Amino acid sequence: DDPSLLSPRAPVVCVLGHVDHGKTTLLDSIRKANVVSGEAGGITQHIGAYQVEQNGHKLTFIDTPGHAAFSKMRERGANVTDIAILVVAADDGFMPQTDEALKFAQNAGVPIVVAINKMDAKGANIERVKQQMQERNIASEDWGGETLCSAVSAINNEGISELLEQVLLQAEVLELKANHSCDAQGIIVESQVEQGRGSTATVIVQKGTLKPGSALVCGDNYCKVRAMLDENGQKVKSAPPSTPVRIMGWSDAPDSGSYFLEVKNDKVARRIAEENAEEMRQELLSKQVKDNAPMDLD
Ligand code: GTP
Ligand code: NA
Ligand code: MG
Repeated sequence: DDPSLLSPRAPVVCVLGHVDHGKTTLLDSIRKANVVSGEAGGITQHIGAYQVEQNGHKLTFIDTPGHAAFSKMRERGANVTDIAILVVAADDGFMPQTDEALKFAQNAGVPIVVAINKMDAKGANIERVKQQMQERNIASEDWGGETLCSAVSAINNEGISELLEQVLLQAEVLELKANHSCDAQGIIVESQVEQGRGSTATVIVQKGTLKPGSALVCGDNYCKVRAMLDENGQKVKSAPPSTPVRIMGWSDAPDSGSYFLEVKNDKVARRIAEENAEEMRQELLSKQVKDNAPMDLD
């Protein structure tokens, strides 16, 4: 993209870590404290991604169970995450899945911010966690390294804004930008068939700006965007890069981790989706023929 067409975008953040170290509790706590358009007492819906604001800066969180979706997106070559928060329970320290998650992030070239969670727990030992960080060549700043880290208690909502500040510091280094005015492109975070709404998908826009009426293709699915909703079920009129929205109007539920592209209009979208479907049928057919082929005798 022409650098002159690029403007700043919010960081897209995911939360990784060992089972039961508090990923979900942390995501809930971040969301409760800061959801951008959240009304006090409003009922938030699970849409797989949400946006919060910290000191006037937006951050987008992917709220997926464990790192299943993260690895699925990586398998598909999609690089949707800018920063990973690695959650380490202070009473447990690094565990096998913590190391696995760290490797995931490092292989993807995604910088990490460490959230040392459960600071309130009996047996919490922050120094031991920092020791373990040093052993893994991700020493924290106060241990002479460069990794940003924050002590939190997700369950007591303590240390959350400090953690978000660290994430914003990390984001600043990355100078995240995107073209806001080209044809939209993004990734499906999750999709579902909802009673009365048909197929809906939560997406994160990576380039361009989605609007109601935009025509999209995702594999053999297409969409004329009927409506876009935020995590509070409020209608959104425009979704620039890094915005998570739930989109209504899909022909069918698209696969999570796959890309969507904006095209000229819904006629074009439908035609391309049908061509893609035909191509997928042919591929499947030729694979079946190959699998059942008799042994080659010469
Ligand atoms: P999985 O999704 O199963 O991998 O777990 P998770 O990492 O999402 O952990 P979850 O948020 O479900 O928390 C696991 C347990 O730890 C729950 O019982 C939480 O209440 C508890 N927990 C989470 N955060 C804290 C914390 O800051 N302090 C204490 N004491 N407990 C916490
Ligand atoms: Na759990
Ligand atoms: Mg969880």
